[in-house]
Order: sequence, then C-alpha cells, then structure tokens
Amino acid sequence: MDEVKLRPESLVVAAGRPREPGRPLNAPIVLTAPYRHSPEENYYSRNEVTDTVAAFETLLGELEGGRALAFSSGMGAIAAVVEGRPAGGVSVVPADGYSGMVSIFRAQEALGRMTVRRVDIGDTAAVIAALSGASLLWLETVTNPLMTVPDLPALIAAAHKVGAFVGVDATFSTPLAVRPLELGADVVMHSVTKYLSGHSDVLMGALVVRSPELAASLHQRRTLTGAIPGALETYLATRGMRTLALRMERAQATAAELAARLDAHPAVARVRFPGLAADPGHAIAARDFAGFGAMISFEIEGSADDAERVCESVRLISHGTSLGGVESLIERRARHEVDASFGTPANLLRLSVGIEHVEDLWADLAQALDT
Ligand SMILES: Cc1ncc(COP(=O)(O)O)c(C=O)c1O
Repeated sequence: MDEVKLRPESLVVAAGRPREPGRPLNAPIVLTAPYRHSPEENYYSRNEVTDTVAAFETLLGELEGGRALAFSSGMGAIAAVVEGRPAGGVSVVPADGYSGMVSIFRAQEALGRMTVRRVDIGDTAAVIAALSGASLLWLETVTNPLMTVPDLPALIAAAHKVGAFVGVDATFSTPLAVRPLELGADVVMHSVTKYLSGHSDVLMGALVVRSPELAASLHQRRTLTGAIPGALETYLATRGMRTLALRMERAQATAAELAARLDAHPAVARVRFPGLAADPGHAIAARDFAGFGAMISFEIEGSADDAERVCESVRLISHGTSLGGVESLIERRARHEVDASFGTPANLLRLSVGIEHVEDLWADLAQALDT
C-alpha cells in the first residue's frame, strides 16, 4: 500500500490483500507443507511462508512500520527473541509483567544463559539504574495485570545508551494506540491471540522489526524451532484484524465508562485503568498512546473468595482467562501468578471489555458486585 500513506484504520482493511487483477480479494487459506520445486518458489512452508501467512505479515508489518514475522503463539514469539540472545547477558524485565514472559526469562536464567533483573517499569529511575551492564530490556506497553505504563521513549533511549536491545510487548495497546518501533524499540511483540485476531478463536503471536539482519535471525529461529502458525489460524487472524479499529473504538469507549463507574462503586477499592485521570499511568498514556485500551483491573472490597464470587456471578461477561476478544472476560488474576513476587493483589479482577452494549455490561457487573 505504498502509493498513498494510509491511516491505521484504513491499513487494517486494505493491507495484505492480493492486488493483481483476477486474484481473490482475500489471500486464500493455503493448506500445504511442501511446494513443487522451482528455482524461485517456496519449497516448504516451515521456512518460506504460504500466501496466507505472507498476507498477515504484510498487514501487520505495514501497520507497525517494519518487517513482521508470524509465530504459533505469543509465547513462541517472546521465546524466539529471548532464547536467541547471546549467552551471558543481563536482562531487565517488568516485575509485574505477564507471568509467561517472566517464566521464559527465568528458564533461561536457570540454564545459566542470563541474569534476570525484575524491576517496577513504572519507576523510570529504577529501570535506568537496573540497566547498568544490561544487554536486554523487555517492556510491556501496559503491564498485565497491574496496568503499569512505562515511559517508553525515556526507557528505550536509556537502554540504547548502554547498548541494550529493547523488546516491547504491545499486546494490550495494539498498533492503533502505539507503535513502539517508531519510538525506537528494536522489536515489537504481539500475542495475536488477543486484540489483533479479536475473536478468541486463535492462538498466535508475532514479532515486528526494522533491521533486516534481525528479521533474518528471527526468521531462522522460527524455522529451526518450527514455531510457524497454521494456515487456518493465520487466515482468522487476518480476517479479525480487518475490524480491529472498529472493535477497539467500541471497546475502549465502553472501558472508559465502566472504569469510571467502577471507580465510584462502594464495593470497589481501587481501579487500575490508564484512562482515569488519577491513575499513575495516565499522564504517560495520554502523551504516548492514541487510546487507553480496553483492559481494566480492579480490586474489590473483600477477600479472594469474594472476588471469585463476583466472577461466578456474572452472566453476560464470561469467567475465563485471555483478553482482547469481542466478548467480555473476567478473572481473578492471582489464581495464575507463579508466586508473590508479581505483587498481584488476591482480590484483583482483570476485565477484558468486549463490544457488548455498555449498559448490559454495567448491569451485569453491578449485579455481580451486589452479590
Ligand atoms: C501481555 C501478554 N503477552 C504475551 C502473552 C502470551 O501470548 P499467547 O497466549 O498467545 O502465547 C499473553 C497471554 O496472555 C499476554 O497477555
């Protein structure tokens, strides 16, 4: 789509489609492992991707402003970056980040391949101090589930000053709100499972980079580990992304309203949502993001059991893990945390706001909180 500079809302619809006359409007689902040999064509779809995967990669690459690589899950994408780093370095990672990400780093540390420093990425000075001697900084645009918002430009610059490589998990924000490559990050990562695919029917991940050398080495890692997504998943992800802008617009507006109402509810002790003016991440999110997202974490007045009761009482909202789908999901997040070092309050509920009507969602939440 290089003839005109399209806005992201148009790119999600237009990019990654066959362009030639006579071709289908949508890249087809290509179900094959081998190709017939020819000097320049694909020969095996673990190495050289099918048209289905290529369409997804073109779409996401154009959105993020880099070269995208599709992976079979978000975890596979994170692992490709972390496990591909030279041995012996120091990695700085969010203390309260996604637990699977922390587990990947911990596994590398247990193998003696790196030293891991976990730090509050909302505390810019603490991260800069921890970067001394570091070779990798991993960030989340908004941490899962404590909703911490890092100062991406300051931290990326500080990491590059000490020669550290920077990866940013932008799953919670989507490329519509922030594009970390434009802020200087070396790699941006998505759990495509979430907002990009958007219908909770796909497990997929992606990386996007600017450097052709880095793209080549991550491509090689994906080939060696076989972490390539299937054709059906990739087709569904591309199809889901066509409505990303519409879904986000609705879900974000609803999340802002629900966060304000939760904040005023007597059964709620604290709401974590960067769209609230009093939230610690508000100023940075307002400066750097084109939207506050549709994830809300909130602590109820009461115990872990009381929080579980809220999850069991919702009817429209589903009690389940994951996020970013059209349907709203809620869970008590501490049930998943590996240990207390994540600092997730036992009574914290994480709500992924979907695209249902705001009043139906509020009625459901209010009746569950009343029980
Ligand atoms: C912020 C974040 N990053 C990465 C992942 C891992 O992605 P996947 O489940 O697609 O492997 C998740 C999954 O919940 C996530 O929430």
